[in-house]
Amino acid sequence: MKKPILAPSLLSADLSDLKGAFEQIEKNKAGAVHIDVMDGRFVPQITYGQPVIKSIRGLSKLPFDIHLMVEHPEDQIESFAEAGADWITFHYENNVHINRMIQSIRSLGKRAGIAIVPSTPAALLSEILPEIDLVLVMTVNPGFGGQKFIEGCLGKIGQLKRIRQENGYSFDISIDGGVNAKTLPAVIEAGADIIVSGSAFFSGGLKW
Ligand code: DX5
Ligand code: ZN
Repeated sequence: MKKPILAPSLLSADLSDLKGAFEQIEKNKAGAVHIDVMDGRFVPQITYGQPVIKSIRGLSKLPFDIHLMVEHPEDQIESFAEAGADWITFHYENNVHINRMIQSIRSLGKRAGIAIVPSTPAALLSEILPEIDLVLVMTVNPGFGGQKFIEGCLGKIGQLKRIRQENGYSFDISIDGGVNAKTLPAVIEAGADIIVSGSAFFSGGLKW
């Protein structure tokens, strides 16, 4: 089994010391940096946007994995690409024109990801899977770090892997929410390609 990539989520970093956060990320062999963009509407909190991403872009050569938890993500694609995003993931739940979104992200030379909340079945992605680069399976309800892992969501990884193999698709599967030293073995066993970790990583509770 291939070792998954670790993508620390900046949401739980000390925001008054982002340089320090990036040092910790690099030191712990991360493969990407997960950046949670929240607009106070799709989810209750507001985090950071394009200017912040632009100003931290120079701190790392790792891919910036932007998780858009915003309403009307279609209005933000271009500016996040310009700000330094490498992977742009938007939510299935607030999008009708998903195919168009994928095309626009790709036309900017970025990888396109689709995220699903715990209550969204993986089966709903059947028409999207041939096109997409990344599926982000949320194992907590979006909006906050440090929540409890919802174990029932793990089955989606197996379902997605089966469909990928049967059809020769090439998307990556990322898991986001509640991963810590206790839940990590089950996530690895399920076979995620990318593992996002916020609170456990930045509290030193997740070694790679
Ligand atoms: C939650 C975010 C996650 C969050 C994960 O809405 O999408 O990326 O940072 O944090 P932990 O690892 O603490 O659950
Ligand atoms: Zn996230």
